[in-house]
Amino acid sequence: MEHKRRVRPVAPKPPSNDKRWKLVDVAMRRNGYSGHALIETLHTVQDCFGFLDDVSMRYVASSLRLPTSKVYGVATFYHLFTLKPQGEHTCVVCTGTACYIKGANHLLEGIEDRYKIHPGQTTKNGSLSLLSARCLGACGLAPAAVVDGKVVGNQTTEELLTEIEKVV
Ligand code: FES
Repeated sequence: MEHKRRVRPVAPKPPSNDKRWKLVDVAMRRNGYSGHALIETLHTVQDCFGFLDDVSMRYVASSLRLPTSKVYGVATFYHLFTLKPQGEHTCVVCTGTACYIKGANHLLEGIEDRYKIHPGQTTKNGSLSLLSARCLGACGLAPAAVVDGKVVGNQTTEELLTEIEKVV
C-alpha cells in the first residue's frame, strides 16, 4: 500500500534578497514554522532590522500561517516591539478589498481629520501612529482595524475613534 507523505506547503519567498531574512527564516525553521514561534520570530526581525513594518509582519504571518491581524495584534500589544512608524499607541486600519468595500477609507478620513495624520505618520505629540495594512486576515469583520493589539471589526468611524480615544 502506498503511504502518502505529508508535505509542508512551500514556505513563501522572503520579501527581498537581504541576507537578514535568512536569519528570520532560521528562527522560524528552528521552531518548525509553528505559530508558537511568533514572538521569537518577531524578536528576530526586530534584532535584524531594528523595527517591524508591514512587509515583515506580512511575511511572518504567511510563513507561520497566521492571520496578519494576529501578528499586528501581538506586535502592537507588546511594547518591546518597535513599529515603524513609532508612536506611543498604534492604530492599523485595514485597506484590503473587503474592508475598502465596507468603507475603510471613511475610517482613515475620520482619523486623518481628528488627528491630522496620514498612514505612516505619528501625531506631533508622539501619542498615536496610524498605519494601513493590506488585509489583516479578518475579512469577515470588515471594516477592521487593530488598536494597540486589539482587533476591532465592523467599525463605523465614530466607533473606531472611540476605541482610539480609550488608549491615547
Ligand atoms: S480586507 Fe480587511 S481584513 Fe481582509
